[in-house]
Amino acid sequence: MPASLATLTDRDAARAASPFDLDDDATYRRWRAWKLAHHARTADDLLVDLADPRRLTPPERRRLLDTIARHGAAVYRSPHTEEDPALPRALGAQLGLVQLDANWLADEDGLSRITVAAHRPATGEDERSSTRGEFIPYTDRAIGWHTDGYYHPDARRILSMVLHCVRPARTGGETSVVDHALVYIALRDRAPELIRALMHPEAMVIPARDDEAGTARAAQGGPVFSVVDGVHLHMRYTARTRSIAWRDDEATRTAAAAITELLAAPMPGLVRLTLAPGMGLVGANVLHARSAFADDPAAPRLLYRARYLDRVHADDVEAPWRTG
Ligand SMILES: [Fe+2]
Repeated sequence: MPASLATLTDRDAARAASPFDLDDDATYRRWRAWKLAHHARTADDLLVDLADPRRLTPPERRRLLDTIARHGAAVYRSPHTEEDPALPRALGAQLGLVQLDANWLADEDGLSRITVAAHRPATGEDERSSTRGEFIPYTDRAIGWHTDGYYHPDARRILSMVLHCVRPARTGGETSVVDHALVYIALRDRAPELIRALMHPEAMVIPARDDEAGTARAAQGGPVFSVVDGVHLHMRYTARTRSIAWRDDEATRTAAAAITELLAAPMPGLVRLTLAPGMGLVGANVLHARSAFADDPAAPRLLYRARYLDRVHADDVEAPWRTG
């Protein structure tokens, strides 16, 4: 075989190798070393300044993709503090995020306005507002660790999101973030069986939710960790203990308890920040949580949230771990 052909074949094999293959420890080790060398120490490590999120310059876009490749997500800071629901969508589109998840609670344009339900104007939306009031995101209460859409079926995995802050709360409303790849690493280092258990299609089941009219949502089982396109690690998780059924097996119980411990520690890579007007979180649907808050009734906290079925294509910047 000519040398050039052999090189090509080796390169193709290296490209096909997945760090998430439990039988390929060498590839896992290379990816792991790269992830651990680059994990966020402070929220500043995630920070990217953008003059206008709706019109990224090539260097800004590059910095966003690079930050997302390293940390799963980036925090952008911009001078755009006005109420512009088109902004999150315009930002997402420049990163290849176009398939918005059609959420029945989202506004018509596929964007959710995260604000306390009572603050929503009663312009023919009373019913939806009161429905929203049942859900913690639309209250001022704390939200525990989760990834978005953990109750969705596989076909509607939320792979990416934009969370844009128009107005913070008067006090509180702090966001905690950690790249779920670091949780994967901590668990796999402890025992690969824990990952195997969490990749089981029935690892975490959300029981059916009934309302007065009957079943509002069917039971939804699924894995905690799954791999998309062979390269993207997705995590489906909620720290809720009510209305969650973990698979009844020793490895799953151990793994679920280990995740709780890791996130309570807090683990390396976990950062906390309060989004200011014009700031936002963009990237993969990484683990996140929110603290309780108190609003200024005259200017209540308002965040826009866009959730996508696409993943950010950061392939060219994800490559460094493959070549060392
Ligand atoms: Fe969330």
